[in-house]
Amino acid sequence: PSVLILNGPNLNMLGIREPHIYGAETLEDIENACQEMAARLGLEVDFRQSNHEGELVSWIQESRGEHDAIILNAGAYTHTSIAIHDALSAVGLPVVEVHLSNIFRREPFRHHSYVSPVAKGVICGFGSQGYLLALQAAARLIDSPPP
Ligand code: DQA
Repeated sequence: PSVLILNGPNLNMLGIREPHIYGAETLEDIENACQEMAARLGLEVDFRQSNHEGELVSWIQESRGEHDAIILNAGAYTHTSIAIHDALSAVGLPVVEVHLSNIFRREPFRHHSYVSPVAKGVICGFGSQGYLLALQAAARLIDSPPP
């Protein structure tokens, strides 16, 4: 089984970007930890980042038939992108939404997510560990999809 892990805008800046909010790890550190966890769970991982909404939409569309689940940290597009919402609906794969920070204890403009209504669940506030929790959730969703 294969999981597509997608990262949206500014997540390539992790390590440099507001480390008090997002932690000191780089996106590469997170990818390495994900690859290790995926190997343990018997999953393949395709880990990507883009600053471009349309590229994320295309990758979501192309995941159909290629992957079994999507883990998505859409960054700020979480709060703005109907296009990403629609793409996720269109492909119909199980989605686990991830945020490093707890978006609900931050500014009100971060409290609404266009991803959540099309996600199986949301993990936020646990930093990079959230990606590993999301992989465990994805493994379970792939193994025994809920009715
Ligand atoms: C984020 C939270 C978003 O509000 C923000 O725009 C990000 C990162 C997170 O992982 O905590 O870019 O998705």
